Amino acid sequence: MAYKTIQVKTEGRVGVITLNRPEALNALCDELTTELSAALAGFEQDDGIGCVVLTGSKKAFAAGADIKELQARDQVSLLMNDPFAKTWESVARFRKPIIAAVSGYALGGGCEIAMMCDFIIASQTAKFGQPEINLGVMPGAGGTQRLPRAVSKAKAMDLCLTGRMMDAEEAERAGLVSRVVPAEDLMDVVMEAAETVAAKSLPVAMMTKETINRSFEVGLTEGILFERRVFQSQFSLEDQTEGMAAFAEKRAAHFKHR
Ligand code: CAA
Repeated sequence: MAYKTIQVKTEGRVGVITLNRPEALNALCDELTTELSAALAGFEQDDGIGCVVLTGSKKAFAAGADIKELQARDQVSLLMNDPFAKTWESVARFRKPIIAAVSGYALGGGCEIAMMCDFIIASQTAKFGQPEINLGVMPGAGGTQRLPRAVSKAKAMDLCLTGRMMDAEEAERAGLVSRVVPAEDLMDVVMEAAETVAAKSLPVAMMTKETINRSFEVGLTEGILFERRVFQSQFSLEDQTEGMAAFAEKRAAHFKHR
């Protein structure tokens, strides 16, 4: 499929989606969000893909929802035809591992989309923020819910109420990003991480992701029970037999993703 606002490529078992609207700092317009959903659906169905990387340009991961498009919307049109809901769902509910590689601005919907990914690796140049309050609205793509879970109530309130940006170091200290690397190393580090994840057993990686995400939805006792049942179910996988045999035989495991 030919895309206009994103670039999509495959490297081994890693799918890479690059947001590509340089003229608007990758602002998330209707066309881009539709294309992003389509690309993710393609990778979800592709058995050859074990991990996806979502990235932008050096200057911007994404500077938020497209304000020029949003400006024309009213409450009823957003309610009746929410262009974003499908995309947010397609990222947040993507079942395979997905890593955000963030350089430059990740603001508003850009920060929110990065938070929908499983983890964020940031360049030293990254800047995160929820500046919607400067536009007379609040975050509308999960920012008020995912940010406090990622960085504490105090930091989330600070960012959402002042609209200020935080740099990569502050974001790492706050727990929003898993690693900060020099700008020139970002894609090498992210691709190495993605290849590492993609080489694991895909069903186990998917179950691990689902189980960690469950911890945000349920209480501890129920979450632990869910974990135990999923763990036990993994003993029916060929990959469990292979992984443990490989350890005993002091060799590398070769997972077949079943
Ligand atoms: N929507 C539409 N266009 C945008 C945009 C956005 N979110 N962000 C940047 N652009 C456009 C600018 O309008 C400009 O286009 P023109 O050259 O045609 O004027 C171009 O991208 C370059 O931007 P700047 O000239 O502003 O670049 P800068 O380096 O001076 O500033 C910036 C960079 C600080 C990121 C600034 O562009 C900015 O503040 N952008 C808006 C950030 C924002 O408010 N994001 C939240 C959006 S609302 C949202 O996301 C809601 C939600 O929760 C879903």
